[in-house]
Amino acid sequence: PVLVVDFGAQYAQLIARRVREAGVYSEIVPHTATAEEIAAKSPVGIILSGGPSSVYEEGAPSVDERLFDLGVPTLGICYGFQVMAQALGGEVAQTGLREYGATDATVVTEGTLLQGQPPEQNVWMSHGDQVARAPEGFDVLARTAATPVAAFANDARRLYGVQWHPEVRHTDHGQAVLENFLHRAAGLPADWNSGNVIAEQVEKIRAQVGSGRVICGLSGGVDSAVAAALVHKAVGDQLVCVFVDHGLLRKGEREQVENDYVASTGVRLVTVDARQQFLDALAGVSDPEQKRKIIGREFIRVFEAAEADLVAEAAADGEPIRFLVQGTLYPDVVESGGGSGTANIKSHHNVGGLPEDLQFELVEPLRTLFKDEVRAIGRELGLPEVIVARQPFPGPGLGIRIVGEVTADRLEILRDADAIVRAELTKAGLDAEIWQCPVVLLADVRSVGVQGDGRTYGHPIVLRPVSSEDAMTADWTRLPYDVLARISNRITNEVREVNRVVLDVTSKPPGTIEWE
Ligand code: XMP
Repeated sequence: PVLVVDFGAQYAQLIARRVREAGVYSEIVPHTATAEEIAAKSPVGIILSGGPSSVYEEGAPSVDERLFDLGVPTLGICYGFQVMAQALGGEVAQTGLREYGATDATVVTEGTLLQGQPPEQNVWMSHGDQVARAPEGFDVLARTAATPVAAFANDARRLYGVQWHPEVRHTDHGQAVLENFLHRAAGLPADWNSGNVIAEQVEKIRAQVGSGRVICGLSGGVDSAVAAALVHKAVGDQLVCVFVDHGLLRKGEREQVENDYVASTGVRLVTVDARQQFLDALAGVSDPEQKRKIIGREFIRVFEAAEADLVAEAAADGEPIRFLVQGTLYPDVVESGGGSGTANIKSHHNVGGLPEDLQFELVEPLRTLFKDEVRAIGRELGLPEVIVARQPFPGPGLGIRIVGEVTADRLEILRDADAIVRAELTKAGLDAEIWQCPVVLLADVRSVGVQGDGRTYGHPIVLRPVSSEDAMTADWTRLPYDVLARISNRITNEVREVNRVVLDVTSKPPGTIEWE
């Protein structure tokens, strides 16, 4: 792989994704990794990421400097560029001049790194210190008004650096810089793609699972759907999937899984209809936290009961279930501190007669992948677009989109309104602009309206369209008025008990995306 050395900012994951977009597999390692640990991964290239720090700060993150003697092509970016300059005998200065955001850069010499780049270009900067003098043996490739050394290269040692951020879209020719480094300087071919990933994962799953049986819980979301499809491709009917219908799903979701997904993958599916069990458990409860707890608890109960049945059935067959599929993604792995071993987890509590020491070994075929890559693989595997392109939907489902008690009747109302919103947003071509659009029923609120000749006293529906990168922060999406008008008309005409549609115009923070 190409190793991206993480200095603790958000940039490392973005760099890793851009490298993969260039068709080269990449992984992230912490900056505390030693040169031996890095060499053990047989890197074909190394990229030092940007970071939050100044190299002058007390305790500023650094790298094992022997890294530069491994003979591996290396690119330093922003803070990584400065770390590199300092380690190799250049000079980093605190001049008090700062550059943030769009900056004009002038290419002095193209070299390999900036080959084919325009002489003047717009780059994205975020730094306080500057490289004042390049290390011995390095050519200066670019400068800016504030920075005499904005990019450098030592072609003989294949060491390179740029002060700006080539990984962000605001840098006009950023991806070309990364591609020059990967393809020209390091000589790496662009041969990493969905097809190869599938082939590689299928091999790995077969090696891990052998003839063992595997179980997977499907949520209807992208990750579990793609993970299960990969495992099925690898081991066929050794896999059985469990889908819990808790009655808090949106219109058509159960059918999408039972019909479209099963038809396109051929997985063996067991659906558990637990709608009544959830309604009973939620009766009389309107506190959001309590609702979440109840839904989580019931979900585990239902899943474990189904699991126990299947385990018993398989054991009677003489082939016990030993593996559990999880749709863990690479960002979760990186954020929880990395680690590449296969974890062994103990199954939840002993419900439904599971033996005390029953353990499943985890199968996690998406552990090295980012979300957009998971979607690409899902498409390559022929999964239905309604599942592959699905926007985020919370585990507790519509249960936390009814403000007030959850009842069968209220779920029906909300499902109808939500289906209209989704259909109209899709028809208007807005799905790609919207991160997600919760539709919320204010079940404890009534307002007066007039319909036909009569007075109505119905409930409001709230539209909560948001734009976001990662759900940590979000802004409300400025939907076109005519789309809002159509949605409002249709909901008030077609959904009983609803006589008002309102728009949530709160960003996050201070409002969360969901209402509960
Ligand atoms: P909030 O409301 O905290 O939501 O701004 C952030 C993102 O998380 C989703 N969400 C959940 N997802 N289980 C989930 O799997 C949950 O309990 C849950 N609660 C919120 C929400 O839809 C948004 O994308």
